[in-house]
Amino acid sequence: MRVAFFEVKDWEEEYLKKRLNGHLLKFFNEKLSLENVQQIKNFDSVSVFIYSKIDERIIRIIPNLKLITTRSTGFDHIDVETCKKQGITVCNVPSYGENTVAEHTFALILSISRRLCMTCPRFQHDFSIEGLMGFDLKGKTIGVIGAGQIGLHVIKIAKGFGMNVLAYDARQNKLLSDVIGFEYTSLEDLLSRSDIITLHVPYNKYTHHLLDKDKFKLVKEGAILINTARGSIVDTEALIEALDKKILSGAGLDVIEGEELIKEEKQLLYDPKNLEVLANIVKGHILLSKDNVVFTPHIAFYSKEALERILETTVQNIGAFVSGKPQNTI
Ligand code: NAI
Repeated sequence: MRVAFFEVKDWEEEYLKKRLNGHLLKFFNEKLSLENVQQIKNFDSVSVFIYSKIDERIIRIIPNLKLITTRSTGFDHIDVETCKKQGITVCNVPSYGENTVAEHTFALILSISRRLCMTCPRFQHDFSIEGLMGFDLKGKTIGVIGAGQIGLHVIKIAKGFGMNVLAYDARQNKLLSDVIGFEYTSLEDLLSRSDIITLHVPYNKYTHHLLDKDKFKLVKEGAILINTARGSIVDTEALIEALDKKILSGAGLDVIEGEELIKEEKQLLYDPKNLEVLANIVKGHILLSKDNVVFTPHIAFYSKEALERILETTVQNIGAFVSGKPQNTI
C-alpha cells in the first residue's frame, strides 16, 4: 500500500516507518493541500491530522485513493459524503484521549477559577494578591454539552471536585447517569443553571453555532464557557458580546472559529477576495485579546500518551484495511 502521511513530526515518522514496514510511505510535515497533492496522485491512502481539508477537489486528484485515516477523533475536515460516493474508506481514532481532553478541560477551568492565567505573567517578582481571588469548584454546577466519551470523563472528574453535574445529549444513558450521579436536561435548562458550561459535541451541520446570540441570552450571569470541541460550535460574535455584556465572566478556549485561518493569516491578509476570512481573523484576535479569555492552541489532545495511542490506532486502522476487515470506519 502507498500511504502518504501529512502533518507529521520527525519522531512520528520514525515510529510509523518501524510499524508499517513493507508499505511505501511518504511523509510531509505540512498539511495536505492543492499545492502538494500532485506529489501523491498515485497513492492509495492518505493519513492526515485536522488541518488537512480533504474535499472533492483533493479527492479528484488522487484517483486510486481507497483509504483515508485521520489521526483524530473529529472528522469534520473530510468530505465524508464524497468519500462514500467514491467508495473511499475513512477511518478515525475514536478513542485515544477522552481522559487527555477531559484533563485539559479542567486545566482551562482551573486556570480561570484560580486566576492562573493572571498569576503566571507576574509571579516572578510580585507577591501581591490583588485581583487574584478565585472561586471554588466544589458545590458549583457544571453543564456538559455532549456526554459522550470525553464528556463522560469530564463528568467523572467534576464529581471528584464535588460539583453538581448537568448533561445535555441527543442520546441518554439512564444507567450511567444513576451510577455516576448526574442529571440529563434540555440545552436551555443547562444553560440557565450552569456556572461552568463545557462543550463536547462533534461539529456538524446540527451543531454549527449551537451557542448563538439567542442561546447566550439564556446563560446564567457570570458563567464560564469552556470549548475544547470545535470552534464553530460557538458563534464568535455572540461569544464576544456575551463576554462584553458580562453574561460570561470568562472563557477557556482550546479551539476557536477559523483557528486555521489565524494560523495562516500572513498568506491571506492581502487577498481582497478573502473579506469573510479576514473578518473571522479579526474576530478571533478580538476574542483572544480579552483578559478573561484563556486560550490554548488546539492542544487538548496533545499529551505523550495520547499521541502514542493515536499513532498505534492509525497503524492498526491501515493494517485492518489491508487485511480486508476495516475498523474504526466513519
Ligand atoms: P463522542 O462521539 O464520544 O461524544 C459526542 C457526544 O455528543 C455523543 O454522546 C453524542 O450523542 C452527542 N451529540 C452529537 N451531536 C449532538 C447534538 N446535535 N446534540 C446533542 N448531543 C449531540 O465524541 P468524543 O470522543 O467525546 O469527542 C467529542 C468532540 O471533541 C469530537 O467530535 C472532537 O470534535 C472534539 N475533540 C477535540 C480535541 C481537542 O484536541 N481539542 C481532541 C479530541 C476530540
